[in-house]
Order: sequence, then structure tokens, then C-alpha cells
Amino acid sequence: MANITAAITGVQGYVPDYVLTNKELETMVDTSDDWITSRTGIKERHILKGEGLGTSAMGIRAVNGLLEKTNTDPAEIELVICATVTPDMPFPDTANLIADAAGIKNAFCFDIHAACSGFLYALTTGARYIESGAHQKVLVIGGDKMSSIIDYTDRTTCVIFGDGAGAVLLEPNTEGYGLLDSLHRSDGSGAQYLHQKAGGSRYPATLETVQNREHFVYQNGKPVFKAAVSGMSDVIRKITDRNGLHIDDIDWLVPHQANRRIIETVASMTDFPLERVMINIQRYGNTTAATLPLCLWDWEDQLKRGDRLLLTAFGGGFTWGAIYLRWAYGAGT
Ligand code: UT7
Repeated sequence: MANITAAITGVQGYVPDYVLTNKELETMVDTSDDWITSRTGIKERHILKGEGLGTSAMGIRAVNGLLEKTNTDPAEIELVICATVTPDMPFPDTANLIADAAGIKNAFCFDIHAACSGFLYALTTGARYIESGAHQKVLVIGGDKMSSIIDYTDRTTCVIFGDGAGAVLLEPNTEGYGLLDSLHRSDGSGAQYLHQKAGGSRYPATLETVQNREHFVYQNGKPVFKAAVSGMSDVIRKITDRNGLHIDDIDWLVPHQANRRIIETVASMTDFPLERVMINIQRYGNTTAATLPLCLWDWEDQLKRGDRLLLTAFGGGFTWGAIYLRWAYGAGT
């Protein structure tokens, strides 16, 4: 029997209408367009406005668009995984809320909570259910309403993050396309540098935790920057080596969009030419679990069947990893 791989057969993204520019941020905190652009590469990010709208509101838009463009009946979807650190609520999982709103009735659904590596972890997890033969159609979503956990008085974090969501459809393939290898790592000692202190079981919400602004993202940027560069460079080298690939064999590097300088440093350390690196951080900022599907969505028209892609991410946890895949549709071989 032919080997079954999990191929991405469609991708769709969604970003909310409101655009928060560097200029507007200059009126909110002591920062400048020049600082933000030169230190991060970000020019603008999208923010979800509106009472009672959470991450699912964006995930639903991405999923509805994906089902429509791939001509998929919601009844055919058997599993929905949503990567997010900003679920609509602690429970039920956001994947359940998205599935319900999209009319997906025959699926089991759960969230994955691996911060900026969430989509990467979720993609590997979803792929296993296809490779095993258990399921034929799996939805993997990455979405975050980062504006709900960002302190807009803290200039070190508020300039970086944005809101968005993206979703892919995974289906079995027996022609050698789809996910061919994945490599994931984590290191809990990194929690000290990047976390949201309160709101979980260790420090449940109290008046004091709110007054101390402990429900917002805390980041000590420098150690995270260093760990992101070394972590992503390391997994790129390992996954190319163990698949007998040279960097020239890879058509596209699809990196997590946390900082343009991180992406450029990783590309330089792995000798990857920037023309083949997907970079859209200038338009969206860091959308956490949504960065990778938003890249695939933006570049979908340029991707050809057979293209070799390396996805890589690094984020809170620390969590990081890489996926090697061959694109399954579009013009090409
Ligand atoms: O996606 C999850 C993983 N996260 C990451 O990968 C993010 C990794 N870290 C980074 O991207 C960078 O460390 C940051 C963008 C967060 C910060 O850039 P940096 O070059 O590491 O700046 P810094 O924290 O060392 O700060 C340099 C200076 C400081 O001033 P002093 O102490 O030198 O006077 C900061 O107070 O820049 C100041 N600064 C700002 N100035 C204007 C920090 N934020 C701002 C700001 N505007 N928004």
C-alpha cells in the first residue's frame, strides 16, 4: 500500500479591518515609526474591534472561506484543531466554537496551546490523524486576538503584536506531497522570559492581579531574540540534514513573523537567500499562532505543486520547531 502523507489542499486567512499604524502607536506610547521599523520591521498590524468578539470570530471567517474555496461540505470534516494562546474563554475550546459556527457536526475538536509555535505543533498533530488512516479531512487553524492580552501602555510589547487567523485543510496524499518530516522542541525554563503571569490556576484573577497588569504579555525581548535565532537555525539545519537536503533544494522558507531582524539573522545563519523567505511582518506584526498560515495564504498564488517548503517557528514556552513539506497543488510538476 502506498505511503499516506498529509497534504495541505487549501489555505485561507483573515485579518480584521482595523489597521493600527506605527503613527497611531506614537500617540499612545513613547515610541516612533523609525524605532519600530528599524528594530522589528513592522509598519502596521490589524486589530479586532467589537464587543464580545474573540479569536473564534476570526477563525470562523478563515474556516468559512476555506470550506467555500475548497468546495468542502462541513459535514465531511472529521477533526478541527485550533492553535491559540487567546482562546475565547478557558473552556470550551475555541476549536469547538469555530466548528459549531461553521456547521461542522461530525468532528472532534480541540485546542493546542503552544504560543507562536502553535500552528506548527497543530499541523504535525493533525497530520498524524491523516497518516494513520484515521481521518480524511482535518482542519488546522492558527489564530490569536493578541490585542486582548497586550498592555497598550507597555511600549516594549504593544508595538509588536497584531490579531489574525488562518486555516488549512489537510487531506491524504499518496503521491509524495504533504508533510514529509517535522521536528519539535520545547524548554520550560524559557517561561521566565515570556509569559502571561495571571489568569491561570497559579494566579487566578483578583483585583490585585488586574491592578498589577499581570493579565498581559510579559516579555524580556533580548533573551527571547537570542533563543529564537539559535533555536530556529538549529532545527532548520537538523531537518535539512536528516532529509539529505541542501538549502538550494528548498523553494521557500516560511518563518514565524516575530521580528524582521530575527528572520534575517536566521536566513543568514542558514545561508538562505531572502528572496525565497516569506516575510509579511510589515503588514500584520506578530499574530502569534496565525503567522504561518497567513504567510501561506499571502503566497498561495506563487506556490507550485512540488515546491519544497520549510516552516519554522519559535515562541513562548519556549517552544520551537520545523516542518518540511512538499506543496500539493498549483501549477507545477
Ligand atoms: O514571537 C514570540 C517570540 N518573541 C520574539 O521572538 C521577540 C524577540 N525579541 C525582539 O524581537 C526584540 O528584543 C524586541 C523587538 C522586543 C526589542 O528590541 P531590542 O532591540 O531587543 O530592544 P531592547 O529591548 O534592547 O531595547 C533597546 C532600547 C531600550 O532603551 P534603553 O534602555 O537602551 O534606553 C528600550 O527601552 O529601546 C527601548 N525601547 C523602545 N524605544 C522606542 C523598547 N521598546 C521601544 C519602543 N519604542 N517601542
